Amino acid sequence: MTPAEITNWNEAACVGVVSLTGLVLSGLLAVPVPASGQTESSHPATFSKDVAPILQRSCESCHRAGGGAPMALVSYAEVRPWARAIKARTAAREMPPWFVDKNIGIQRFKDDPSLSDAEIAAIGAWADAGAPQGDPADLPPPRQWPAAGGWSIGTPDLVISSPVSTVEALAPDWYGMVNPPSPTGLTKDRWIKAVEIKEVIVDDDGNEVVPAVAAAAAGGAARADLNRSVVHHSVINARRNSAPEDDVHPNSGGESAAAERDLSLFGIVHELGQNATVFPDYVGVMLPGDSVLTYTNIHLHSIGERVHVRVDTAFKFHPEGYEPKYVQTSGAQSGGFELELDIPGGDANVFRDGFFRVTSPMILMTFEPHLHSSGKRMCIEAIYPNNMREMLNCADYNHNWVKVYVYEDDAAPLLPAGTVLHLLAWYDNSPSNPRVSDPRNWKGWGNRSIDDMFYHLPRMIFLTEEQFEEEVAARETPPLFAATQNQQ
Ligand code: HEC
Repeated sequence: MTPAEITNWNEAACVGVVSLTGLVLSGLLAVPVPASGQTESSHPATFSKDVAPILQRSCESCHRAGGGAPMALVSYAEVRPWARAIKARTAAREMPPWFVDKNIGIQRFKDDPSLSDAEIAAIGAWADAGAPQGDPADLPPPRQWPAAGGWSIGTPDLVISSPVSTVEALAPDWYGMVNPPSPTGLTKDRWIKAVEIKEVIVDDDGNEVVPAVAAAAAGGAARADLNRSVVHHSVINARRNSAPEDDVHPNSGGESAAAERDLSLFGIVHELGQNATVFPDYVGVMLPGDSVLTYTNIHLHSIGERVHVRVDTAFKFHPEGYEPKYVQTSGAQSGGFELELDIPGGDANVFRDGFFRVTSPMILMTFEPHLHSSGKRMCIEAIYPNNMREMLNCADYNHNWVKVYVYEDDAAPLLPAGTVLHLLAWYDNSPSNPRVSDPRNWKGWGNRSIDDMFYHLPRMIFLTEEQFEEEVAARETPPLFAATQNQQ
């Protein structure tokens, strides 16, 4: 990859404000109604037996006290008033937020909370039947969650706080570097097992507080509103103290596997709504000793109340002595067309595509479409050196939820050197897209959510040819790129 093909994360932007989409895939509601876990329906769906297990698996992570969503969906009393909304949001596949097209490409992702058609139908039938509770004896045992404000990765080994920024009650969005960098205090290099990032609102003395606007929403009466969040994204990178100050982790790919070591330093783009990141055991991401965390680009959004905010980054480390098999890097694949985005006002279906050349063999660990508020869908297709083509994935895009889809280890695409990634994006800049604030406006490339972007932001592992061959040999199904053309 050349520097021109790689774009610094500084340009990665943020999620926008919350809004509803009216899309209802009514066809899905016609599916016959099985009880969850059974093949056929033998009883009318009830909360205790059918709905609660689904909510536990796919909703409670957010919809519980302190879970980030506006209301808890744990007990029957909490769920009952939301039955119609739950039916509508699950049928539209807006909840849980997970937008991978289930009919195209790879379907094996880590922590996939999405619902099957049968589960969606069961929820719909339950709501239509008046949302009956059923027998509480049928309830699954409650799920245990970390205490509100706790870390989902468990007790961290290290938590690093950013400097505090003040955000006025009413102010334009602000993006920029937050200084000074925070010392990590580490004396030795450590490999990161998991990382989680949180915004923390503090009072004048630096004590953690809940802003009034969030307290009101947590009361349950308020409408869902992601504007409770002040930090819409933060770009956080590790830098060795010995490195020059402008040597921030480029968050980019390298020419060869040998060059990867330096790029293995920790760097992350945290976006609103993102979960903790847990790295597979065979992949190393380093937090170096004698280093700082830099906050290259933080996007702050005012919430109608003057607040002081900081960003906390929590790490869990591998034990000392751990040696990773591979080292991960992360980067932006843009296809080199970004400044030419030209999205007319009022147009509901603008298509753009571009090509990104893979210069060293790699494992693509994640699929992360990144468009902005008018974005509606993105696909990624691999064109292999033998000219075989494979649509790896497509996902609808909702800029309220900038999702990272993490492939299962043995489903992550293996891309030989010379593969061309074909990136395809669709935009809806018309009144039918509720996330567009004024569809009369033309849109070009820009950092603000009301401008637009076109990125694929994956995490990758660059391999030597020998390592790549080993990975290919370990796959049960021979990859398409190994096929000869006349087998097509
Ligand atoms: C990743 C976190 C997350 C998960 C998982 C999640 N939700 Fe949500 N949900 C939210 C947030 C945040 C909102 C408010 C913003 C919005 O409406 O998009 C919300 C909004 C909703 C609303 C609309 C509330 C309103 O005011 O109209 C419903 C209904 C809902 N969720 C149901 C569910 C159900 C059912 C599931 C599981 C099948 C689920 N959610 C999974 C975070 C989540």
